[in-house]
Amino acid sequence: MNKREKFVIEGGKPLKGEVTLCGAKNSGFKLMIASLYADGRSEIRNFSKITDTFSTGEIIRNLGGEVIFGENHIVTVSGKSLSNWVISSGQGKLSRAATYFIGPFLSRFGKAVVSNPGGCKIGRRPLDRHFEGIKALGAKIKGQDGHYLISAKELKGTRYRFPKVTHGGTDVMVITSVLAKGKTVLENAALEPEIDDLIAFLNKMGAKIERKPGRIITIEGVKELKSASHSVMPDRNEAVTFACAALATKGDVLVKGADKKVLGAFLEQLDKVGGGYEIDGKDIRFYYKKQLSPCNILTHPYPGFMTDWMAVWSVLMTQAKGESVIHETIFENRFAFFEQLIKMGVKVKLFNPRVPRPEEVYSFNLKDDRPEYFHAARIFGPATLKPARLEIADLRAGATLILASLIAKGKSELTGAELVDRGYENLDEKLRGLKANIKRTE
Ligand code: EPZ
Repeated sequence: MNKREKFVIEGGKPLKGEVTLCGAKNSGFKLMIASLYADGRSEIRNFSKITDTFSTGEIIRNLGGEVIFGENHIVTVSGKSLSNWVISSGQGKLSRAATYFIGPFLSRFGKAVVSNPGGCKIGRRPLDRHFEGIKALGAKIKGQDGHYLISAKELKGTRYRFPKVTHGGTDVMVITSVLAKGKTVLENAALEPEIDDLIAFLNKMGAKIERKPGRIITIEGVKELKSASHSVMPDRNEAVTFACAALATKGDVLVKGADKKVLGAFLEQLDKVGGGYEIDGKDIRFYYKKQLSPCNILTHPYPGFMTDWMAVWSVLMTQAKGESVIHETIFENRFAFFEQLIKMGVKVKLFNPRVPRPEEVYSFNLKDDRPEYFHAARIFGPATLKPARLEIADLRAGATLILASLIAKGKSELTGAELVDRGYENLDEKLRGLKANIKRTE
């Protein structure tokens, strides 16, 4: 277990300067897994030095695969020496990525054993849409005490429609069908840009994957895949985190690598609330222009307002003058971070809005909802945030509490700094580069 570390933050100062985004957390490790199809060494550049990357490397090595982390954010991966097809639940959080391994395992061994990682803090996160899709490709799946044995001599292309949009499920069906015999057509597929990063990499390996209008993806099965090299796209969640930090501290930050093409829904909200931004080629400058106005948002699969942006956006809205509503529709239980913000003086009321057709509005399976879960928050601003001593519960909440501590005048202490490393490379170092007074201690 990592040693417990904490952030000590002296808040109340505007962030100023420039920061460069790292490779997308929700793309990098998936490319490492896709590389396992090839015997040659694939080269993945601009990966983020975060826990998800390193634990994926760990898992691949334990399976006999080759992973070499080189200098300047380059990792090479080869599946040639893979000798194991079991991802046990012992692999911790990262076994969430277990279904991504099924394709390479079936192509090499004709079988795979994965555990169902079970839920996490934001919801049950079942994998039914993954397994239904893999079965549709002709695999046999037998489940026993939390483990699934998947077997298939050969996968056959199929037409599969996702019952509800799923980012991970789309990733997994794309990865698993690349060597299937014949053509696979995915319907109601997710549109997240990290999926396009995966598609681009697989196509460089020799796959034949194409996005068609109307959430369709076609995959023509090929005989084999060869190693390739690819640079991971910048992390759009990190871009939004720094943008909200710049605006919430009344600062001015140039975010290098912030690509307007994948941040449309966020920039649209900034226009509504009066947040300043200036697009400068492949970078965006975010700056405080005037008192922020409130707004109402509903999170939605891409190209909508992303659920991962919701927590830092909530902190920003505590500084807006008036009432803002946030309606989270992707995960069933993603508001736990509010209890910590309330200790800092945030005024928020959690509630459940009346939704005529919840089956259509919510991405989670309704049977996973619970009466004690809230799906909307009404935030009253502007609130004066007080410094506090708090526990970081999970990765996204960590960035949220750091942001709140940067606003609150005075000294805050946040334990659980190591959790933030799961999704952000050197966040405190980058913030110091923006003149924030943040220290990391054991
Ligand atoms: C991915 O999670 C991301 N994770 C998430 O980041 C991100 O918030 C989410 O997509 C939305 O973009 C990675 O890419 C590693 P979904 P994922 O399948 O694939 C339910 C992070 O780790 N569902 O689109 O799990 C699911 O529980 C996260 O940083 C089923 O019920 O998202 C959720 O409520 C935070 N059955 C909803 O659908 C399934 O088989 C959307 O999930 C699959 C999903």
